[in-house]
Amino acid sequence: MNVPILTTKHMAMPALGFGTWPLKGADCEEAVGTALAMGYRHIDTAEMYGNEEAVGAALAQTPIPRGEIFLTTKVWWDKPNGPAFRAAFEESLTRLKQPYVNLLLIHWPSPELDLPSVLTAMAKIRQDGLAHAVGVANFPSALLKQALALGIAPIACNQVEQHVMLGQQKLLDVTQPAGIVLTSYTPLGRGEVLEHPVMKRIAEEHDATPGQVALAWLLSKELVAAIPKARGTERQAENLAAAQLKLSETDLEAISALPKDKRFVNPDFAPAWDS
Ligand SMILES: NC(=O)c1ccc[n+]([C@@H]2O[C@H](COP(=O)([O-])OP(=O)(O)OC[C@H]3O[C@@H](n4cnc5c(N)ncnc54)[C@H](OP(=O)(O)O)[C@@H]3O)[C@@H](O)[C@H]2O)c1
Repeated sequence: MNVPILTTKHMAMPALGFGTWPLKGADCEEAVGTALAMGYRHIDTAEMYGNEEAVGAALAQTPIPRGEIFLTTKVWWDKPNGPAFRAAFEESLTRLKQPYVNLLLIHWPSPELDLPSVLTAMAKIRQDGLAHAVGVANFPSALLKQALALGIAPIACNQVEQHVMLGQQKLLDVTQPAGIVLTSYTPLGRGEVLEHPVMKRIAEEHDATPGQVALAWLLSKELVAAIPKARGTERQAENLAAAQLKLSETDLEAISALPKDKRFVNPDFAPAWDS
């Protein structure tokens, strides 16, 4: 399966990846294994998901060379300073049984986050070859700009919620000119956005599914990746095939015109999104 590669000065990331939350244990190992076998080459995990061992087991089992797989992990927000962040990341590597990850992210900006301290730790992790690229997640645009302005670590990515009902244009206005990848999480809106009549109509016209249309809209954007999660092989294959779907300008405009105010992931520790 031919998935475009987003190439920046920091990394080369397959635009369509496989999300692993909330998969766990043998279930997660099997799902990552089938995803890799059918052509996914980008796997997204995190310390908080409690599935790094399972992801590591799937990587150990697959015949696909490690160098062909792009692996992301994230350190949870309760490590707000450099030493705690580094120690947690090393534990992630141990659970993954990996000498390195391709991308390491700050999972959420906590109110206690000492940004210069964590960025300094990330820069060192990168220099040490333990993460080939580093970045952030759930950073609103003001905080992302602050992280970039500090110039301590080369930020390669901001992973945030984005789908046909949450456009994130304010963030794209920062990431695209800066050559940073915006990775869309919850790209299918947890399945909900797929019920929208506009999605269904466009899907019918292309002999595709609403999920494929939702993913193709994201992937049509410059420097945007998406990491849908699906437990079963049928939906895994359906989502992967979205990388081949080309929507017309009219389709893209019709989706872009839909309201963009629906956020599914908004925990009480979330930052002020509009900043
Ligand atoms: N950085 C962060 O803070 C953060 C937050 C949330 C998520 N993430 C990452 O992003 C990944 C994806 O986000 P998500 O799991 O929240 O949401 P999602 O991928 O948008 O949606 C997953 C849901 O949609 C269903 N689904 C999958 N493919 C489908 C299809 N083709 N048609 C209809 N339904 C389909 C899945 O069901 P089945 O599995 O039963 O098929 C599951 O219930 C996560 O796994 C995680 O890796 C990161």
